[in-house]
Amino acid sequence: MSTIVAQSRRSLVGSSRDAGSDDLVIVGGLGHVGLPIGLAFANAGLQVVLYDTSEQKAAVVRQGRMPFVEHGAEPILKAVLNKTLRLSASADSISRARLVMIAVGTPVDEYLNPKLRSILEVFTQINAHLRPEQTIIIRSTVYPGTCRQILNFLSADGHAWHVAYCPERIVQGYAIKELPELPQLVAGLSEKALKDAVELFGRVAPKVIPVSVEEAELAKLFANAWRYIQFAVSNQLFMIAQGFGVDFNRLRQVLMDGYGRAATLPMAGFAAGPCLLKDTLQLAAFNNNNFLLGHAAMMVNEGLPNFLVEDLRRRRDLSRTTVGILGMAFKADVDDIRDSLSYKLGKILRFHGAKVLYSDEFANDPTFISTERLLASSDVVIVGVPHSAYQQLVVSEGVEVVDLWGVIRRPKQNHAEHHLAEHPREASETLLRR
Ligand SMILES: NC(=O)c1ccc[n+]([C@@H]2O[C@H](COP(=O)([O-])OP(=O)(O)OC[C@H]3O[C@@H](n4cnc5c(N)ncnc54)[C@H](O)[C@@H]3O)[C@@H](O)[C@H]2O)c1
Repeated sequence: MSTIVAQSRRSLVGSSRDAGSDDLVIVGGLGHVGLPIGLAFANAGLQVVLYDTSEQKAAVVRQGRMPFVEHGAEPILKAVLNKTLRLSASADSISRARLVMIAVGTPVDEYLNPKLRSILEVFTQINAHLRPEQTIIIRSTVYPGTCRQILNFLSADGHAWHVAYCPERIVQGYAIKELPELPQLVAGLSEKALKDAVELFGRVAPKVIPVSVEEAELAKLFANAWRYIQFAVSNQLFMIAQGFGVDFNRLRQVLMDGYGRAATLPMAGFAAGPCLLKDTLQLAAFNNNNFLLGHAAMMVNEGLPNFLVEDLRRRRDLSRTTVGILGMAFKADVDDIRDSLSYKLGKILRFHGAKVLYSDEFANDPTFISTERLLASSDVVIVGVPHSAYQQLVVSEGVEVVDLWGVIRRPKQNHAEHHLAEHPREASETLLRR
C-alpha cells in the first residue's frame, strides 16, 4: 500500500467523527444486488448508506423510485428513504459505517475469462476509507480464492482485518420476496468477521449457515452452474424433440405427470443474463478449464438462438421475412437486458437477411416498438422471454409463432399444445423458477 494511503487511513482511524455512526455502507449500493439488500436492512431498522458511483441511478432513487424492476421494492424504498436509508456519492461515507458490504459487479472479459483484478481495483479505490475495525462483507460473486487475496491486500499495512463472504443466491428481481425465505451462507476469515456477518444476516434471513470461505465461494459458483446445466439439459432435449417433430412442452408435461423424478426438468428457453454463464465459466477457469459439463452447457444454451434460426430457415426465405422478437430482457418480468440472448437471436436473423423488430414489456430502448405494432408487422414472432403479460396475447393465425415457453394463445387453441396457457399457475411458477 502506498504511504499516502497508509497515512490517510491512520488519520481516519484516529478520528472519533468517523467511528461507526452508520451500521452498514454498501459499496455498489444502487446495483441489482446492493439496492434490494440495502432496503431489506434499512427496513429491519439498521442505518444504511448506499455508496455508488452511478449518478444516473442516484437521481432516480432519490425520488423514491427504483432504477430497475425489483418486485415489491418501491414501497419499502419510499418508507425508508432519508430515514434509515441514505445515499452517498462520496467514498468518505465508507469510513463512517461499522460494516462495509461490497456489491459491485465482477464481470468476465471479452474472451470469457474472469477479470480477477476488477474487485481488487475497487479495493484500491476505496482503501483509504476503510478501517481495520470494520467488518468487510463481500456480497459480489467472486472467483475462488479472491476473499483471501482481499484479506492479504488489506493486511499489507500490518493491521488485522476482518473479511466475510456472504454470497447472494437470490433470483434477480425477487430479492424482497426471497431474502426472508432463503437460508444465507455466511463465512468469515476471522472470528469477528463471522460473528458480525451472522448477526447481520440473522436480521433478514430465516436461517444462517456458517461455512468456510472456500465452501461459500464454491457453493455460489456451483449454484449458478447447476442452474445453467439444468437449463442446457432442457434446451438439448427441446432440440432433439423438435428435430423429431415432437412438441417439447407436451412431452415435458407427460414426463412430469405424476413422476416426481422428472419434476425439476425446466422449460426450454434462453438461459442468459449476467450471472449463469459468467459463473459457470469462472468455475471452469478455476478448474484449469476442466469443466466439461459447464462448457457443454454453454455450447447448448448459447447455440439455442442459432438452432431457432436454422429451424426457421428450413421453412422460410429470411430475406423476405419480418421477424418480431417479443421480450428482450434476459428473463421474465424484469427490465434487465444484460447478456440477453434475444439480441444474439436478432443479430443472427439479420445476418441471414431478415428484417427484425424488437419489443419488451419492461425494458426501454429507443429501437423497441410496441407489442401491438410488432404483432401487426411481423410474419414470424419469436418469444424471447415469457413476460407474464404475454399470456394475455392472442396472435392471429396468419403469423407464425415460435414460442418455446408455450405462453402465447392462438385463436383456435389445442389443449395439448397450449397446456401452460390454460394453467396460468404452472406458467407463473415456471416464470419464477427462471
Ligand atoms: N444480479 C443478480 O441477480 C446477482 C445475483 C447473485 C449475485 N450477483 C453478483 O453480485 C455482484 C453485483 O451484481 P449486480 O447485478 O448487482 O451488478 P450491477 O451492475 O447491477 O451493480 C453494481 C453497482 O456497483 C456500482 N459500482 C461499480 N463500481 C463502483 C465503485 N468503484 N464504487 C461504488 N460503486 C460502484 C455500479 O454503479 C452499480 O450500481 C456481481 O458479482 C454479480 O455476479 C448478482
